[in-house]
Amino acid sequence: MNIVFATNNLHKIREIENYIDKRVCLKSLKDIGFIKEIPETSGTILGNAIQKARFLFDETGFDCFADDSGLEIEAINNRPGVDSAHFAGPQRSHSDNINKVLSEMLGCENRKALFKTVFALCLKGEIHVFEGIIEGTITNSIHGIDGFGYDPIFRPIGFKETFAEMPFELKTKISHRAIALEKLNFWLDVNILR
Ligand code: IMP
Repeated sequence: MNIVFATNNLHKIREIENYIDKRVCLKSLKDIGFIKEIPETSGTILGNAIQKARFLFDETGFDCFADDSGLEIEAINNRPGVDSAHFAGPQRSHSDNINKVLSEMLGCENRKALFKTVFALCLKGEIHVFEGIIEGTITNSIHGIDGFGYDPIFRPIGFKETFAEMPFELKTKISHRAIALEKLNFWLDVNILR
């Protein structure tokens, strides 16, 4: 079956294309020539994922899924959360966002954080949601150069490295997206593909 992934983020496409069930043919927005901006204005991670999948389905009629993710840091009231992409402003700069987190957390002992992803799958207009969460800590400074977003300051529980110091394959296997994807794969296997 064909499913369109509602993102233009190449990092995410790479993370997902190798792990989605092999019976699924993953298409990108580029593959289907979709160039409209997809709104994400609901104010929550769950709401945005649903809004994006619903919008793409309504516009194209294709079965599709969308994701929305965010970093929730306990000591700063679970921010940046749904505002993760533009935490430091509309320029959506990864390094500005990281610097804002590090400066808000200067001297903060509680470094607990989690990454959350919600996948909203829209099949024939019906929505199904899958959540992935990975817990970890925020480092005191930047470690590593790989990945994207907050990877250089997020160290998952049980690991010595930040996401940005890990081999790409390892991050891809353990990330919040991997956990949500495993649930999505299981659901597709049981309900659609078998
Ligand atoms: P999105 O809604 O999935 O695009 O994620 C929103 C923002 O959360 C991104 O722009 C990143 O700043 C951050 N983010 C999401 N997933 C990750 C990740 O795997 N590593 C680092 N940052 C992430």
